[in-house]
Amino acid sequence: MAKSVDRAVGVDIGGTGIKAGIVDLKRGELLSDRIRVNTPKGAAPDDVLAAVNEVLDKLGGVDKKVPLGVAFPAIVKKGRTLSAANVSEKWVDFEAEKFFEKGLGRDIQFVNDADAAGVAEVRYGAAKGHDGLTILTTLGTGIGSAFIYNGTLIPNTELGHLWYEGDSIEKYAAYSAMERENLNWEDWTKRLQLFYDHVEFLFSPDLFVVGGGVSKHPERFLPMLKLRAPILPAVHRNSSGIIGAAALAGDV
Ligand code: BGC
Repeated sequence: MAKSVDRAVGVDIGGTGIKAGIVDLKRGELLSDRIRVNTPKGAAPDDVLAAVNEVLDKLGGVDKKVPLGVAFPAIVKKGRTLSAANVSEKWVDFEAEKFFEKGLGRDIQFVNDADAAGVAEVRYGAAKGHDGLTILTTLGTGIGSAFIYNGTLIPNTELGHLWYEGDSIEKYAAYSAMERENLNWEDWTKRLQLFYDHVEFLFSPDLFVVGGGVSKHPERFLPMLKLRAPILPAVHRNSSGIIGAAALAGDV
């Protein structure tokens, strides 16, 4: 993959926080501090745009020639957001990429957040060099997923919306469910086991990678999960979304 630029900026918009950093595209590492602000309550488009402007300002006025990738927690088709699980309903069927480009006064590369994390982990992390099917799941406010087959991303898989007891399974098994319901690690891991068993039966992946907010505590739950495929923590933990968004922006 020929890269004409050596650095890019990534912004990862989540249900709880908006994170940004400048990324070294050769090594897939942050060159700057990781900047974070809270996602504004309700996560409506204008408020999210203002928060993205804020994190970019805090990064120190990055030159507009440096590519910018923005990762977002929704289905993203041709720059349009088609869903809104942990953000305002206003994002459903919304020209989000154009909205950010207008509001930021520059071109961006716009992608689903879990897909961005998947790209980071296959290029620079836990899935690097793995053939076959890797399924990365992010466990945070929701559950995001990225499918990577022989190094190629298959976008918008949305495993957090597998149906479980009349709702999306992310309501039951995301990291936020453990915090919301005061579950201990054992009880929460039982919920994860149910989720991963179902996913493994449906798709028979060769490798699972776990990212998102919880990936900074892999030792608390990964050893309790019993699956056929190996399951590894994301090397870039909760920065994978930033790094992957930047990497995709650097490709263009
Ligand atoms: C969204 C996904 C997103 C995931 C993690 C889900 O609710 O539907 O698009 O990847 O949360 O943020």
